[in-house]
Amino acid sequence: MHTMPHLPPGPTPRFWQPLAYAHSPYRFFRSVHARYGDTFTVRTNALTLTVVTAHPEGVGQIFTAPADTFHMTLPKSLLRILGRQGLSGMHGEAHRRTRKLISPCFHGESLRRLGGMIHATAAEALEGWRDGEVWQAQDAMRDIALDVILKTVFGVEQRERLHLFRAAVLDLAATFSNPAFILSALLSVEHDGWPPNRRLDAARQRLAALLQENIAERHATGTARADILSRLMEARFDDGSRFSDTALVDNLIANLMAGHETSAMTLTWSFAWLGRHPEVAQRLQDEIDSLGSDDDIAAIQALPYLDAVVKECLRLYPAVPDVLRMLAKPLQLRGYEIPAGLNVAACSAVLHMNPDLYPDPERFYPERFLEKTYSGNEFIPFGGGNRVCIGNHFGVFEVKIVLAVLLFRGRYTLQEPAPLRVARRGFLMGPTSARVRFQRK
Ligand code: HEM
Repeated sequence: MHTMPHLPPGPTPRFWQPLAYAHSPYRFFRSVHARYGDTFTVRTNALTLTVVTAHPEGVGQIFTAPADTFHMTLPKSLLRILGRQGLSGMHGEAHRRTRKLISPCFHGESLRRLGGMIHATAAEALEGWRDGEVWQAQDAMRDIALDVILKTVFGVEQRERLHLFRAAVLDLAATFSNPAFILSALLSVEHDGWPPNRRLDAARQRLAALLQENIAERHATGTARADILSRLMEARFDDGSRFSDTALVDNLIANLMAGHETSAMTLTWSFAWLGRHPEVAQRLQDEIDSLGSDDDIAAIQALPYLDAVVKECLRLYPAVPDVLRMLAKPLQLRGYEIPAGLNVAACSAVLHMNPDLYPDPERFYPERFLEKTYSGNEFIPFGGGNRVCIGNHFGVFEVKIVLAVLLFRGRYTLQEPAPLRVARRGFLMGPTSARVRFQRK
């Protein structure tokens, strides 16, 4: 006889849950947690149940499980964008091999070589702003973060090519964050002929064609440049083989999609929080001004308060509120045996609000990161384990440089009322509005 496995408790009926989750994952998870405790069962998509844990021990059990415990986690709708030969579409040995090749491009020396490009991108954006101009942080920061990826990852240099790429990416992002596409993704409508899917395929194809031109140019003229595309083209697997052009395109698009809105939203949050907390803004401003110039990348990275501010922005509304894994094998989680076929998730949206770890958790208080060191099971804005965000160092490195340049050269006044309102902004959640008045120093 078939018996239902004994799962952690959770609300029923479940049919409305994917919609509540899509509307506001933070509110959804935090209210289910308030009622059912730190490990609960919900339905966040049409296909499978998800057992969610916000307990550090449960988070550790997910992040330290052997790699073959999990299948590739992405739903088909996301694979449509990210591609099947990209890292995010892989699991098991293929994922491990690919990560081993890509990871060094985003760390250490490779990263240091990109600092100057990030600095120049932020400085150039600032030069384009008029004194007294009011911009929406989400748009202004998206433009900077997009140019950063196009220059550092795709290796786009000329102005005209930059325009072409920007247009193609914004077009892809618009089809991707279209409500009809998000809804069909949540309801798992996978048919290629379905108009939102068809529009997305066409937009992705246009971007892939542009990228293919960059790759062909490097095949012809060589790869002696600092950008990540060049590094990826030089990289060799253990057997001496290289990435195919399709794998390069898929990985670049995956990095672009995973890397620009997330960094832009972290920057947007910085302005939304700093504008509401003048004492924090002042302390940060003093620290940055004390550098005397804004072009020493290593000195920027070493600033302790800047580091704490960025972490606090990542804590409060983490861009990925639930780090998902699909089980290929049963997993022991907080005393339950979760069967294969279900999803499990480490819930940053709730974990980061745990008052035992983060006293007065609703408060924007960067000092907490100076007072205490958090483990990889307590602070998880980049996920964890063998699928931890490959851009975790790059993202923080970038956000710190951009913030340092902008604050060193300008003054910013938030033009919004005090109560913060959070809503969906495409695939991520963010402040409903963060208008900022810019003044050159
Ligand atoms: C502040 C910015 C960012 C945040 C908050 C963020 C967050 C995340 C999270 C939570 C995951 C899932 C990790 C897991 O499943 O354990 C992830 C995966 C990933 N991120 Fe990021 N990310 C950011 C920036 C970037 C950047 C700049 C890049 C690349 C340029 C990037 C590329 C990726 C890739 C390729 C994956 C998939 C890794 C895999 O499946 O092995 N991210 N990111």
